[in-house]
Amino acid sequence: MTTAVGVVILISGRGSNMRALVEAGVPIAAVISNRADAAGVEFARSRDLPVAVVAHTAYPTRERFDEALAAEIDRYSPRLVALAGFMRILTPAFTRRYEGRLLNIHPSLLPAFPGLHTHARALEAGVRIHGCTVHFVTAELDHGPIVVQAAVPVQPDDDEGRLAARVLVQEHRIYRQAVRWFLEGKLAIERGAVRVREPGARQWLFADQAA
Ligand code: GRF
Repeated sequence: MTTAVGVVILISGRGSNMRALVEAGVPIAAVISNRADAAGVEFARSRDLPVAVVAHTAYPTRERFDEALAAEIDRYSPRLVALAGFMRILTPAFTRRYEGRLLNIHPSLLPAFPGLHTHARALEAGVRIHGCTVHFVTAELDHGPIVVQAAVPVQPDDDEGRLAARVLVQEHRIYRQAVRWFLEGKLAIERGAVRVREPGARQWLFADQAA
C-alpha cells in the first residue's frame, strides 16, 4: 500500500490558485479539470504535473460525473483534494467520500455571499470589508468548517474587477497556508469549528499585513 502524500487539485478555468499552490512547493499528485480548454491545464502541463480531464459534458447526470471524477482522483491516492476555481456543484456522495480532506477557496467572507458573483454582490450590498475563505467542503454549497479567512477593505472607487484582483492576492496567501497546515497534520475539526494545532497560528489575516 502506498502512503498518501500529495494533493489533487480540481480546476475549471484560469487556475491561479492552483498555480499559487504549485509555486509554494505543495506536493501535487495531479491536476484534474472538467474542461479541456482551461488555461490552468496548460500551466500544469508546462510544469510536467500529471494532468487529467474529466469532462462533465460526457456524463448524463451529476452523480455519474462525480463517480468518474472520484475514480480519477483515487488513481492518485491523494491525501488532500483541493478545489481551486472548480465550478461544479458536488453531490453529497462525493463530499462524503472526501469528508475531512476536501478544501475549497471561496471569494467572500463566508457565510456572506455563498455562490457566484461575490464581488458584485458585496459592492451592491455596500459592505466595507470583503475577503475570502478557505473551508472544508460539506454537502451544503460554500458552507463547512472555516480554516482561514482574509479580510479585504472595500475602497470607495472599487469596481468588481479591482476588488476581485485584491481579493485574489489574498486567496493565494490563505490557500497555501491552509494546505500547508493540512499536510502538516495541524488541522482538527472540533464541534464544527477548525482548530490549528500550532502555537500562535492565526486563522485570519488582513490584506495589508505582511505574509
Ligand atoms: C477564485 O476567485 C476562487 O475563489 C473561485 O473561483 C476563482 C478561481 O480563480 N472559486 P482561479 O481559477 O484560481 O484563478
